[in-house]
This record gives sequence, structure tokens and C-alpha cells, in this order.
Amino acid sequence: MKTLTLTKPDDWHLHVRDGEQMRAALPHTARQFARAIIMPNLRPPVVSVAMALSYRDRILAALATAAQQYTFEPLMTLYLTDHTSPQEIIRAKESGKIHAVKLYPAGATTNSDAGVTDLAKCYSTLATMEKIDFPLLVHGEVTDPDVDVFDREGIFIDQVLTPMIRQFPALRIVFEHITTRDAVSFVQESSHPIAATITAHHLLLNRNAIFQGGINPHHYCLPVLKRETHRQALVEAAISGNPKFFLGTDSAPHAQTAKENACGCAGIFTAHAALELYTSVFEQAGALDRLEAFASFHGADFYRLPRNQEQIVLRKENWSVPEQFEYAGDNLIPFRANTTLTWRMT
Ligand code: NCD
Ligand code: ZN
Repeated sequence: MKTLTLTKPDDWHLHVRDGEQMRAALPHTARQFARAIIMPNLRPPVVSVAMALSYRDRILAALATAAQQYTFEPLMTLYLTDHTSPQEIIRAKESGKIHAVKLYPAGATTNSDAGVTDLAKCYSTLATMEKIDFPLLVHGEVTDPDVDVFDREGIFIDQVLTPMIRQFPALRIVFEHITTRDAVSFVQESSHPIAATITAHHLLLNRNAIFQGGINPHHYCLPVLKRETHRQALVEAAISGNPKFFLGTDSAPHAQTAKENACGCAGIFTAHAALELYTSVFEQAGALDRLEAFASFHGADFYRLPRNQEQIVLRKENWSVPEQFEYAGDNLIPFRANTTLTWRMT
């Protein structure tokens, strides 16, 4: 039987929510990953060191009372607002438990209304981050309602990212969940310390998936899926061995009732099978030998954290993804629900 042994990977972009929803979502990630960068877009958002540390405590408490024992470390982030102070950034770094600051342009996605309205307001905070070498994670989409939803990442590169890296030439940046050939080229060609995360769903699907056989809310996420040529560029980047590209699932659970709704939420839940999904992409591209670096090395190196020591094993084996998971009194519909996957983490 074919097996694959890898250094235990990390998820460099994860939404685990809070409270009962967090207790339902977290074990899926803790089973597969050693660490994850925890997104701060709660309601209210995680805007201070105190809030991030108390969120971290709630995650650790949930792990301690989970049915199974996990060795999992949540890597916390702060939500950047127009009012985040340079002092708060310094305290975040000194905590040793907060590893980055997340920029959501106001209104870009789920729970982002407290996001940044004008980057000029964050100038001294970004300058401090650059000075103390604290990474900025960006949701790279403009929010101007006049910009076509499929063009928002490209316009963000031109209007926001390019001026930003000119202004802060040493600011370490992760361009999160990239979705276009343009973003791949930008990251590849830039001499700036910039890297990018790539999700499993953007590697596996193009935008046809949103409309196949009727509108499918479970394939709606932000940034929205793009056309096939962009998906191909993402696969090429992921399997390239370039250390600027690494794994970040952007697994984003929402209750079934919030997804299957006249105004359905953006977000795809992939944490139940994240590694299996990435493995199938690398297998199909004939690049299984590049999977470990993408999943387990490049992210840790970029964040300047030690690589994990533990190992995990994936076996070539058919299994079916459940139709649903329990989610705080509602259902959570997983990506590829009711279908057969061909790799399984043991
Ligand atoms: C995320 C969420 O639900 O929190 N949704 C998504 O579609 N990815 C927010 C985000 O990362 O944009
Ligand atoms: Zn996200």
C-alpha cells in the first residue's frame, strides 16, 4: 500500500471562530496540523493583545477538554484597524504568542467592517511593524463596489500593495489566499520580503464550480474562485518549490443555515480533510515530492519559527467525506461532502 510520510504541517491561515463553534471546528485542524495562524475576524474583532491572549486561552481550554489529546499550538494575530497603536504592536511582539497583524480592507469579507478604511491612518503602525520586523498579513482585495468582484485582487496589487511595499521596503508581508496568475507573478518577481498562502479549494476548483448544476453556496468564498488559467497558475506556484508559497487553508466554517441562505456567507470549510486535498493536487501534478516543503517548511521558515519535528503519514486509501458535521446546534457542510477522497491521514 502506498504511503507518504511528512513532517507534521502547519496551517498558515485558519478561521476557527469562538465558543461552541470553535469547539466544533478546532479538532479537525488540531488532528492534522501542529500549529495554525488564527484569524482575528471574530465579532467583535481581536484588536488588542489582551483580546488575542484571552482568545488563545479559550482555544487552549477547548483543546484540554476535547475528546482526544492534541499537541496543537495556536499562533495568534491582531486585527488591524485605523486605531491600532504602535505600542500595541510592540506589546504583541513581546508577548511571544502573537505572530502577525492582519489587514482587512473595511468591508472586504466576513466580519471585516471594522477593517482599515484608509491605509494612511496606519502609517506609524506599519512603520513600527517594519522596524521591529513583525509580519503583516493582507486580505488582498479592494472593496470599491464599482470594481468587478473578479478583478479585486489585481486592482489591490496595483493600488495598494505596490505603493505599500515601496513605502515600507522591509515590511514582511504575507499575501493571503492568492487566487490569480497576477498575484503569483507579483510574488515571484518581487524582491520584497513577501510570501503568499494558497488554499486547497483554489487549487482544486475554478469559478465554474460555483454554478455547476445550479448555484452552489458551498463553493462561495472570498476571494471568489477564478477562471481555470488562474487555478493552473496557483498549482504551478504551489508545486514549484519556491519558498515564497506555502499552505494556508483559509478553512472558514459557517453554519449550513448561514451558507444556504438568500444572502449566503463567504467561506469554505476544508479543515476536515485539508492535507488529503492538498495531497491530491500535488499527486495530480506529479509533484508529491514537493508537498512536504510547501506544507511543512516554507511557512515556518518565513515566520522564523522552528520546523516541526513530529511526522504524519498519509495512506492511499478511499474514504468518503461525511455529509455534515455537528456545528453548535447547526450543521457544518464540509468541502467535498459525500464524495470519495483517495488519500487519508492515518
Ligand atoms: C472568511 C470567513 O468566513 O471568516 N471567509 C472566506 O470566504 N474566506 C473570511 C476571509 O478570509 O475572507
Ligand atoms: Zn481567511
